[in-house]
Amino acid sequence: MPRAGVHHRSEQTALLAGLIHDRGTDPRRDYDRERRLPRRLVEEFARVIALASQAWADARTNNDFKSFAPLLERVFALAREEADAVGYAGERYDALLDNYEPGMTTDSVSKLFTQLETQLVPMVAALCDKSEIAPNPLLAREFPVDRQRAFMETVATALGFDMESGRLDVVQHPFCTMIGHGDVRIGLRYFLNNFAGGFFALVHEVGHGLYDQGLDPEHYGTPMGDAVSLGIHESQSRLWENYVGRSVGFWRHFYPQLQIEFHDALHDISLETFRRSVNRVSPGLIRVQADEVTYNLHIIIRFELERALLSGDLRAPDLPAAWNELYERRLGIRPKDDTTGCLQDIHWADGLIGYFPTYTLGNVYAAQLFAAAERAIGPLQEAFAKGNFHTLRNWLGEKVHRHGKRYKSAEIIERVTGSAPDPSSLIESLSRRYTSTPG
Ligand code: CO
Repeated sequence: MPRAGVHHRSEQTALLAGLIHDRGTDPRRDYDRERRLPRRLVEEFARVIALASQAWADARTNNDFKSFAPLLERVFALAREEADAVGYAGERYDALLDNYEPGMTTDSVSKLFTQLETQLVPMVAALCDKSEIAPNPLLAREFPVDRQRAFMETVATALGFDMESGRLDVVQHPFCTMIGHGDVRIGLRYFLNNFAGGFFALVHEVGHGLYDQGLDPEHYGTPMGDAVSLGIHESQSRLWENYVGRSVGFWRHFYPQLQIEFHDALHDISLETFRRSVNRVSPGLIRVQADEVTYNLHIIIRFELERALLSGDLRAPDLPAAWNELYERRLGIRPKDDTTGCLQDIHWADGLIGYFPTYTLGNVYAAQLFAAAERAIGPLQEAFAKGNFHTLRNWLGEKVHRHGKRYKSAEIIERVTGSAPDPSSLIESLSRRYTSTPG
């Protein structure tokens, strides 16, 4: 869209949001949440978000937070109005969180995150001392992109992604979306010098895709044929990315093939060196590039800041200072500018407040689900080493995918794993996989 088109677009999205709201509040349907929102607020939110998103993109390009601050302030003011209209039992943030992770409260998320943070901060500090030693050997190597593409298709198929009901295409930013039953699209990208950067994003999106393809077609178009929540969706992507894609068994199966495909890049790199290289822990400024261990600290920072912005304890103009302070305290690094600091994510400009926690909830659920899968099926590394991924996939399909929205996220986790959402499986798994590896 040309830049000058944004005002027209903002009006059009406001109109559409209003029309969708009218349909959603039609008395024949009982969307409680929609019914409580006045059409004026829904339209105003859509209008401001269209403007805020463009202002955010400009501010990010020009490292100019000041130009974005007034729109950010408006977005949070509207979010406050929305929360008040919807209603909440504890604090305002509950009303927004409930949009993305129904049934979860600010209080329960906050307790869970505090537990996680207490363990993660020292773990990250200890791991950094170790990993500073060696440069990453893979980043100096070249991986021709046409061969990456073929390899990624092989892996997606082996994991159970059905190419008859889905596609892989090249895009700017990886995603997975379900157009409808039988049509699940994955967007992926490749980097000549950063094989891992493209590859693990693919495995992540395949995890989302397996969930979409595993929903019951009989219930398509109804809540029973739809994903539970963003957190449960993310648990599926994280499970395949981190517990399968980064595992020893997975690479015992795929590394010999990878070494043949990319002989020039990998002929002198052992399986163990390769695995260590793709599982490095190193605190960085950018959330989407974060490793598995530091990732959740990026989320905990955002959760704290968006609650403060919503309550009014933090004003938009003071966001950069607060952001930089928290990065220093939790990750030991400080952004040099706002582009790599508080302007890096589009979420707030896009009105997505209460969304960030679902990423870490996904990691928490993934750890619990994988542990439960191994308790039920037995240790999975041997199966992965033989190229057997369908046993795990079928178990997830049976326990999670086919139920759609029958249960809320906390209920399904409790039913399948025997315990309520709890970070101990995640902490246990991270410390076993990252702190006990020799060397
Ligand atoms: Co995801």
